[in-house]
Amino acid sequence: MIKNISVIEGDGIGPEVIKQTIKVLNSIARKYGHEFHYKYILAGSEAIKKLGDPMPKETIDSCLKTDAVLFGCIGDPKYDHNPRGMRPEDGLLKLRKKMNLYCNIRPIVIYPKLLDKSPIKKEFLNQVDFIIYRELTGGIYFGKKGRYKNEEKAYDYCIYSKSEIERIGEMAFKAAIYRKKKVTLVDKANVLETSRLWREVIKKISLDYPDILLDFLYIDNASMQIIMNPNRFDIILTDNMFGDIISDESSVLTSSLGLLPSASIGYDKSMFEPIHGSYPKAKGKNIANPLGSILSGSMMLEYFGMHQEKKLLEEAVKSSLEKEVSTLDIMSDSKSSSSTEEVGDYIDRYITNQ
Ligand code: IPM
Ligand code: MN
Repeated sequence: MIKNISVIEGDGIGPEVIKQTIKVLNSIARKYGHEFHYKYILAGSEAIKKLGDPMPKETIDSCLKTDAVLFGCIGDPKYDHNPRGMRPEDGLLKLRKKMNLYCNIRPIVIYPKLLDKSPIKKEFLNQVDFIIYRELTGGIYFGKKGRYKNEEKAYDYCIYSKSEIERIGEMAFKAAIYRKKKVTLVDKANVLETSRLWREVIKKISLDYPDILLDFLYIDNASMQIIMNPNRFDIILTDNMFGDIISDESSVLTSSLGLLPSASIGYDKSMFEPIHGSYPKAKGKNIANPLGSILSGSMMLEYFGMHQEKKLLEEAVKSSLEKEVSTLDIMSDSKSSSSTEEVGDYIDRYITNQ
């Protein structure tokens, strides 16, 4: 297969983790006879520096034209005080919106080798395997925002329409069919009107899926259950902001935020990005965990319908963890840990030698 992929390295550790991802995708391409053509494009602080815009039009145009977008991470404390619309993060939100990437999929998987490294007791982690379906282009992130009364008051509107809830709801139920057949809607329906609308719409969708168990948790309770009782979950369906918060929380179960990938899916567009941020302190030190990005690459392979390829890449990642070829965030001492580059090299070799 021939695939055109737009690549946004972004800020902080973005270029380093993307470099390893491209390396392993190339070994997959060599092995299976695919051609991946990469187009590197600017976003985030680099784009602010060079073009005065965190998400330049050329970048958006390129992302709208390719088969998929591979995204590193963006964010740079230097621009935290930029006006609204001019921060690196604003660029990412704009791209998600322009590409209509309404469904963000974040799998939470526990690797046996890492059981002892999680701050959560092993007994709690038995058979934990769930996926967060986070709505990505609506809610409080995108509602009207502003200040009034001489800047002394601020507001952020949280708005959801029925159709925005329906489209991700359908995706979540479809995913549950092939898994443990359970969808948990996480909301705050005891307080928020938007959450009540979510419940109404999702209950209605569930009538078309009689084999899928639907249950509801308030976000405060869900945050506790994720730590106390994580194997009760299969598919967690939730809005934009709750999904953002519980995905970082859930990463603690796995031992490192650096491990977690995500896929952001729209109608015919898609983007693959780790859930971690730009980790500016680690920039250029060759210590960042490339697995979040590499596993996002593997979700991209699945999206392309390359199931064998995805399987092999994930097997290679698993082997790197088993052999303890892992970065500092996982090994927690610098003597036994491997560099970003070394993890990429291990996975590259594993694929080539299979
Ligand atoms: C994420 C990130 C982003 C978000 C930031 C960088 C805007 O935290 O993808 O989870 O909040 O969506
Ligand atoms: Mn986040």
